[in-house]
Amino acid sequence: MSQFSATDFDAKAYFNHRPTYPDSFYDLIDRFHQGPRKLAVDVGCGPGVATFQLSARLNSFDKIIGTDVSSTMVKRARSWINDDPDKFTRVSFEVSPAESFEFLPTDQINKKSLDLITAVECVHWFDFDKFQRAAASNLRKGGTFAMWGYSDAFFPEYPKIDSLIINLTYDENNGLGKYWDQPGHSILRNMYKDLHLDTNLFTDIEEAFFMEDEIRSKEHVKSEPVPFFMSKFVTLSQYQEFIKTWSGYHTWRQLHPNAEKDITDEFVDRILEIYPELSRSSRVQVCWRSFYKFARAL
Ligand SMILES: C[S@@+](CC[C@H](N)C(=O)[O-])C[C@H]1O[C@@H](n2cnc3c(N)ncnc32)[C@H](O)[C@@H]1O
Repeated sequence: MSQFSATDFDAKAYFNHRPTYPDSFYDLIDRFHQGPRKLAVDVGCGPGVATFQLSARLNSFDKIIGTDVSSTMVKRARSWINDDPDKFTRVSFEVSPAESFEFLPTDQINKKSLDLITAVECVHWFDFDKFQRAAASNLRKGGTFAMWGYSDAFFPEYPKIDSLIINLTYDENNGLGKYWDQPGHSILRNMYKDLHLDTNLFTDIEEAFFMEDEIRSKEHVKSEPVPFFMSKFVTLSQYQEFIKTWSGYHTWRQLHPNAEKDITDEFVDRILEIYPELSRSSRVQVCWRSFYKFARAL
């Protein structure tokens, strides 16, 4: 996916402003996984958001390799290791498309040598059929295939922001609608319901989707009521920086270098009009629709 590979893509800002995944979610993976825990590969790893979490939370794995087609992302991911090599002894990164495992030693490629493959908030950019075939050729029998991600955001305490963020994301005329690569972005919006795991390659398929209605219906939104509850408290300025990590925004920025006003400033100004009690430094809770698919290789 080209925007994440652009040399001017700010992979450090991506790492700082994208949400991480809740600890409780890694417990789900831990419970699902069966058998040896020697080698895990996190494809489409970006600057290592989930890769480092996997190494901290699933510390029973001997080695975790993060891979990404973008050398900009991999350079950023490696920089965290270079900054603190003693902390991340089990983690390394390789530039590689997700549909190939050629970075493995020759005697391991397509030899069912991996115990776990994860793909986080990235599968919508892949050639999915090629990817699942490659994953099945490299996972040992019973090895875990785990994909997860998040889609549209909502704001439990300030619900009028919800439609503003939907307009900003999808509106073809006044938003970022026409600046996303397709069909990837629509696949993400539909939370991978259009991507089907091949039952000739995988078994024990588990999938779950968490929508705002379900999350809102719980009385205590802040107490992680659903198994995969993605939420963060951010200032409006921090949320604006998060939007700037979107590939669609990156394309908009390239095409509007002389825009009088940044599209994300317009978005925040609109929030402040609707909720005058807020300022750019006000902290708000943002939640995301989330989903996962787990399976075991045959
Ligand atoms: C939205 S980021 C997700 C990064 C990280 N996994 C996370 O959870 O934040 C999507 C990543 O997928 C990578 N990507 C897109 N197409 C790819 C492909 N065919 N093979 C490997 N990586 C790919 C992009 O370079 C980008 O770093």
